[in-house]
Amino acid sequence: MNRIGIVYGSTTGVTAEVAQTIQTLLGKERADLMDVSAITVEDLNRYQNLILGVSTWGMGEMQNDWEAKLKLLKEADLKGKRIVLFGLGDQIAYADTYLDAMGTLYDTLLSCGVTPVGQWPADGYACEKSTALRENRFVGLALDEDNESKKTAERIDAWLKQLDGQWL
Ligand SMILES: Cc1cc2nc3c(=O)[nH]c(=O)nc-3n(C[C@H](O)[C@H](O)[C@H](O)COP(=O)(O)O)c2cc1C
Repeated sequence: MNRIGIVYGSTTGVTAEVAQTIQTLLGKERADLMDVSAITVEDLNRYQNLILGVSTWGMGEMQNDWEAKLKLLKEADLKGKRIVLFGLGDQIAYADTYLDAMGTLYDTLLSCGVTPVGQWPADGYACEKSTALRENRFVGLALDEDNESKKTAERIDAWLKQLDGQWL
C-alpha cells in the first residue's frame, strides 16, 4: 500500500487540526503529516499519494505558507501522482470567495499536468460563489469550522470512504 503524505497550510491552526484528524483516521503507519511551511520538493516527490489542505484568507487568497510554496508544486515531479484536496473557509462571511484558495491550488495542479480527484458535492452549502466549484461540485472536501463545525467529522468520514474505493 502506498504511503500517504498529508500537507497542510494553516494560519490559526484550524486546517492543521483537520489534517491531524485525517492522519489519525488513516493511521500514522500509513500517512505522514507535514506543515507546508517546512516542505521541500523531495518531500513532495517521495509520496505517490498526496492530500493537500489549504485555508482561504484575505478575499479569496491563498493561506500565506501555501502562497510561498506554490512554486514547489511546479518544481516537483507530480506526474502519475494521486492528489486530493481539502479546504477550510467561511461560507457565510466570505460567501463570494468561499474556499477560493482550494480553487487556486486545483488550477495550479492542472497547470502541472495533474488532475486532483476526490470531488465533493456542493449541495447544502450557503456560499454564492467559489472558484473551488466546478460544474456544481467542489474540487475537494469543503469544510467550514466557522459555521458548521458539527458537520466536519461526518464530512471527513464520508470523503475518506469515497476515496477508499477510488483512490487510497
Ligand atoms: C481576515 C480573514 C479573511 C478570510 N477570508 C476568507 C475567504 O476569502 N474565503 C473563505 O472561504 N474563508 C475566509 N476566511 C475564513 C478562514 O479561512 C477560516 O477561518 C479557516 O478555518 C482558517 O483556517 P486556518 O486557521 O487553518 O488558516 C477568512 C478569515 C479571516 C479571519
